[in-house]
Amino acid sequence: MNIRPELLRFADGKPVCTAEDWTKRRQELLDLLRREEYGFAPEKCKVTAEVTEVNPKCAGGSARLESVTLTFHAPKGDHAVPVHLFIPTDGKKHPLILLINFRPDPYDMYCPTEEIIDNGFCFAEICYKDITSDDADFSNGLAGCFDRPTDGTGWGKISLWAYAMQGVLDYLLTRPEIDAENVAVAGHSRLGKTAMWCAAQDERIRFALINGSGCGGTALEQTKHADAETYEHIHKYFHYWFCENHHKYETETVSAVLDQHMALACIAPRFACVGCAKDDWWADPWSEKLCCTAAAPAWEVQGCKGFDGDETQAEIGTFLHGGHISYHLRSGIHFFSRRDWLPYMEHIKNNLK
Ligand code: GCU
Repeated sequence: MNIRPELLRFADGKPVCTAEDWTKRRQELLDLLRREEYGFAPEKCKVTAEVTEVNPKCAGGSARLESVTLTFHAPKGDHAVPVHLFIPTDGKKHPLILLINFRPDPYDMYCPTEEIIDNGFCFAEICYKDITSDDADFSNGLAGCFDRPTDGTGWGKISLWAYAMQGVLDYLLTRPEIDAENVAVAGHSRLGKTAMWCAAQDERIRFALINGSGCGGTALEQTKHADAETYEHIHKYFHYWFCENHHKYETETVSAVLDQHMALACIAPRFACVGCAKDDWWADPWSEKLCCTAAAPAWEVQGCKGFDGDETQAEIGTFLHGGHISYHLRSGIHFFSRRDWLPYMEHIKNNLK
């Protein structure tokens, strides 16, 4: 399949042939994605943290749960975000998974908390609405603490949620219990798009767990199947997730400028885990697989295996994990299931640094 725009070609038409070339191409792509899709995030600001409560024995006694208040000290004010942090009690360093979730409860239907801990992870969770509301109001929460550029390139909400995840990582990476070389971010659906965009920009993150992210996430726009969500649909209700410049792509099925493989590719040479459900036609599992094949050259040009899959539609039960991008397709509907977490944790454990 001839996917446009070409990943391994600079904007000036020159080919991208080496790992060094890719480093420059990645910056070009990030700049493009900031300008044309997600918007530029605010300048980094200082974060401070306070542990407000500790439950020394949870998950059957194998972890400690800390309630942490993380404060962003932004130009127009301070904003606090609660973080739940589970730390295994064995005294060892552990890889981290940071989940951005829909609800504030540390025990939630989208995460098998105890099983994550039993698999040897530190586990941190934030709720996206504690950062800023999921609507077009840019004056509340952390959003209200910054001026937002009005030239069409100002951050959409996805960018701001991703920015907050990076601030949370600034703190978590100071914790001695966390193995800073093995950090994963995770999210589902709109928050899968967020986790992807966060990992695309932040090289401290080794693994991106991108679940059911669909349109504006890991679903290639130009291969969308009937009934799948497109940029046009997403802008109808969720235009504020993106920057204003992104509106111009609504009517283009094949853009010569932009598609989602470019965002996924910015994670290279790190690890991306793409998870889909067979009946999630809105997110479009096949276009998500095609996005993996289209992004793979970013890994190959750096001398590593990108994706161990082809352009055919996957069968239920598929778990392709022979490359740096993994892809699985489970049965069922749009959900962040235990059956998604299991392949994600396997891919991480197979590729720990
Ligand atoms: C809507 C939206 C999707 C999004 C999903 C979600 O269905 O159209 O793009 O992924 O909500 O976040 O649950």
